[in-house]
Parts: sequence; C-alpha cells; structure tokens
Amino acid sequence: MKKDTLLLLFICLAISNFAQKKKSNYKDQWQFAAKDSSFYVTAEQQKELYATDAEMKWFKDAKLGIFVHWGPALLKTNVLSWGRNGERPGAGKPATNGVDPEIYDNLSKKFNPKNFDADKWMQQVKDWGAEYIVFTAKHHDGFTFFDAKNTEYSIMNTPYGKDICKQLADAAHKAGVKLFWYYSQPDWSHPDNLREKHYENYLPYMKEHVKQLFTEYGKIDGVFWDHLATKYWQWDSYHVLKDMKKWQPGIISNARVGFGWPLEDKGDYDTPEQSLGPVNHHRYWEACLTMTDKWLYSPKGPIKPYETVLSMLIQVAGNGGNLLLNLGPNGKGEFVEKEAIEAEKVGDWIKKYGNTIKNTRRGIYIGGDYGASTQVGNKLYIHVLQQRANNTDAIIELPQLPIEIISATGITDSFTKYDVKNGKLYLHFDKNKFDENLDNIVELTLVENPSKFERIETWKANPIAKKDFEVSSSSFAKAKNKPEAIYNTKGNVFSEGIHLKSWWEPKKEDKTPSLTLDFKSAKKVKTVLLSENMRSHCTRDFTLETKDKNGNWNTVYNGKTIGEGLRIKLNGDAIYGIRLNVLENTKAIQITAFNSYE
Ligand code: GLC
Repeated sequence: MKKDTLLLLFICLAISNFAQKKKSNYKDQWQFAAKDSSFYVTAEQQKELYATDAEMKWFKDAKLGIFVHWGPALLKTNVLSWGRNGERPGAGKPATNGVDPEIYDNLSKKFNPKNFDADKWMQQVKDWGAEYIVFTAKHHDGFTFFDAKNTEYSIMNTPYGKDICKQLADAAHKAGVKLFWYYSQPDWSHPDNLREKHYENYLPYMKEHVKQLFTEYGKIDGVFWDHLATKYWQWDSYHVLKDMKKWQPGIISNARVGFGWPLEDKGDYDTPEQSLGPVNHHRYWEACLTMTDKWLYSPKGPIKPYETVLSMLIQVAGNGGNLLLNLGPNGKGEFVEKEAIEAEKVGDWIKKYGNTIKNTRRGIYIGGDYGASTQVGNKLYIHVLQQRANNTDAIIELPQLPIEIISATGITDSFTKYDVKNGKLYLHFDKNKFDENLDNIVELTLVENPSKFERIETWKANPIAKKDFEVSSSSFAKAKNKPEAIYNTKGNVFSEGIHLKSWWEPKKEDKTPSLTLDFKSAKKVKTVLLSENMRSHCTRDFTLETKDKNGNWNTVYNGKTIGEGLRIKLNGDAIYGIRLNVLENTKAIQITAFNSYE
C-alpha cells in the first residue's frame, strides 16, 4: 500500500513538473481554447474546405511563382518582423535582439517607395517565367499594405499614401498574372492578438481584413497564411476559409491555417521553407525560398546565381511541386537589379525549354543521381542535371521503362542516341555539348501515358559510410561548422527533396579552403554529391581532386557553381580520397553535403 502511495505521489510530481515545463515553453502561452464550440470542426467539415482537382490544376501547371516580402522594416533591418525586438504572440521563441518596437513600429512614417510601379513588377514576373505572385499584404509585424479601415498602421498612413495591394491587383489582372495574398494571422503590433481580448477585439479585426482583401480587390487566386505555432480554432479558420471560398470561388490555400485539425492534411498544398523537401507525395507542394539570405530586402546578402535557381526549379518539378522564389524589393519600390538579372536568365531558359517543366507532373523516374524527370501526356522528359568529371563518358544509365519508346529527341542539342540493353535504358550524349548545358534534356515519346505506371526508383548507388573515411578541412569557422557536422545525415537525401541544415564553413581568412575525405581503403566512386546552404550559394569556382594509389591528387572536375544538389559523375576507378577546393566565392562558403557513392 505504502509503495502504491509513493508511486502515485511520484507520478503526480512528474506530471506537474512536466506541465510546468510545458508552460514555460514560449509558444504554449499563446495557445488557448476556442471562443465557442462552433470554431471546432469535424473531419467532414474540414473536407468541405479542400480545393477540387480542377481548382488545383492551374497551380500544378504553373511550377514557378514569385514571392514578395516587403515592408517599412527594411529602413532599419533586413529581417522582416523577426527583426522587431518585441513580444511575439504565436511564435515559438521570444525575441532576444533586434530593433526596439518604438522605433520599428514608426518606420512606416518614413516609408515612401516612390518608384513603385505595379505594371513593371508584373512584367518582370512574366519575364522571369513565373505565373503567379504572392505578396505580403500583412506580415507578422502587422503593417498593412492595403487601405485597412481599422488601423492606422497601414500604407495609407505613410508618406507614400497609396494602396499597394490595389495597384498590384489591378496590374496582375491586366497582365494575366495570378495573385495570392500572404496574410499572417499572428500580429505582433496589435495589443489584443492572442491576448486576453483576442476573441473580442483581434479576431474581428482580422476578419475585417480578410473580408476586405477577398472582396474589394477583384479576383484573388490564392492565399498564403502563416499560422506560426497556433491552433486553427484561434483564427476561426473554418469559417474564415468558408467565407473566403464563397467570396473567391476556386481560390486555393496553403497549409498554414493553424494546427490541430482532425485530418492531417491542412489547406490545399504543403509549403516546405528554405529547402526542397521533405516531400509527401499524396499532396501537392510548393518550396518557398529566398533569392538572398533573407525574405526582406538584403542588399549585402548573397544572391543565388541563376544556375542554382534553375536546378532547384527542375528538381522541384521532377518531384511534383512548385518553386516559389522570394525577392525583397528595396525602399524605392523596385526589385534589386542584380537579383532581377539572375531571375531573368531563368525566364530566358523557360522561354526555350519551359514546355518540359510547365504543365508537367512528377515523372515516372524518381529523382536520382542523373537528375529529375517530368511528364505530360505520353511525353517523358529526362532532365539530366548530372555533370561529368573530365575522364568519364557522357552516357546516362536508367532502369528500362515498362513502356515502349516510340522515339527519343534531344531538346538540348547534346543528345545523340539511346539504346535499351539488359533491362537498362542508355542515353548517349556528345561529350562537349553535354558539358555546356546545365540541364541536358531528352524527350521520350512513349506508346502510353507513363502516369498509369508505378514510379521507378533510380538511385542505386551506395553512399560511402562515415566509418570508411576520415574527413578534414583547411579550417572551420565555428565548432558547429566542423566538416564532421555534415555527415550525420543519411545517404540518399537528394532523390526526393533536399533538407539539410548543417554545413561546413571555412574561416573567412582561409585563402585555400578545402574539404578532404581520405578513404580507409580504395573505393570505386561513381557519383559525388555537393550542396550548399540554402541561404548561401556562394561558390563561383571550384575543383574536385581524387587521390590515386601513390597518394597523388589529380584534378578531375572544375565547376563554377554548386547550389542545391550538384551531382558529378566519376568514372568508377579505384580512388583513395576526394577533395573539394573552393577557388572563388562571393560570400561565406557553406557546404551542406559532400558525399561519395560507389
Ligand atoms: C516563416 C516566417 C516568415 C516568412 C515565411 C515564408 O513562417 O515567419 O518570415 O514570411 O515563413 O514562408
């Protein structure tokens, strides 16, 4: 008996301790019950909210969208909302630094984007090959880019004084660009948001915004909510979404509509952020990521080169998703020229080869060391993203298709012929022309539509395990950037999305940055995979060396950019080590992957 009482006491203590710990969690203090039971939904009610396949079609066809994060905050910081050193209702962590709220909240008084030209923006979006734009009508800081009648904290109260959302909507309609409002339910400058009078004051305030944004600006094609760490009922999401769908028939919504729904699938599509995955294939998805290191204007930040953006677009399309590329306009109201130049090169590529991306779906060949595939009707597009070391052939090997091939055409001029042997499909390319293309594209015309068949795994290569090599580097910036840090992830991370969050970073003053793997025994390496941190695609010249049996290092590859998931084909000769040398870079070198496969 005594034992039982003790046990009970112990359990009670443990529970209360756990509860206390939970409470001390910043995000939990902002979560509370619904105002009344009508805010909670059943699975059936949730299902009413899903967009139909027909409504999703244009979005799946679009493949590329432009995200725009903007705000008066840029006058003082390049971190939108999170750069405000105030309370953050709904967020996971409290602020520890940033701009004093007194200063931050008054920046709008100086915001005057005189050169803003909505028509020009739309022309640019089109030139970049995008079909839609997602604009921050209101971010977490609460500043409204539209003529919100219930707050002073709006664009109408700036020296600029004109409704930006209105101009954007008019211009988008004229240009035929689809339009999404990004709207943050959490609002860090509203005194009642997620506080005592949330239901009394904040929710009606937010609902007025929603009504205005979806009834006064003509056709709106989508909404990008941003719930942070809150529950769906705190925003009465069911009724808000129902109303929105009534006002804008066919509108689609992202997944950030609050946690806690009865069914796991929230909204109409998933939104992995600053990574190309992970991907959940029963859902459509859109990877959103920044052209620089920040969502907001970041003039000193690194800019992704077009090669990187393009490779990301192709990988995302091959994995059945969209790319939402973010650009942060400056205080004058213009896109940053250097960023626009890279985006325009993507657009030029799309003009030439866009039919192999747009309107396609995830290809029958799952992404792998070869690259990615897309398909539409009975056409299958093989996008060979793999580059080759100077001592290898230009032949790509894939498993044989379960469908007969009628014909094969090179969309890029490098393709010479194909053959099918012993259960394999071989694509042959002209070596020199192959090296000139970032993406060597082959169109296969098939007897049947491949979407009726199961997807085919293509990644057969074995990663060389951590225990089989020693890793060293010329230097590392901080302890967490030691090269060992990038070998804690499992091998096959590139096939179906990339989600890597640790990197090797050499010291700034390191003049000859290098990362070396010494194999404990000879290895027949066929593929090397490299990747950089999503926020820092800064390598602009690099070499790969391999070590022979006499311990000599030989250069086998010279490339300009690495970006997100660069695959390099090696000839499979036995080697004793491999080394990456970065010869030129724009900002910090941050390598998230340097893996070898046999
Ligand atoms: C995050 C951030 C935000 C950014 C957004 C884009 O949730 O809070 O700053 O707007 O993601 O996906």
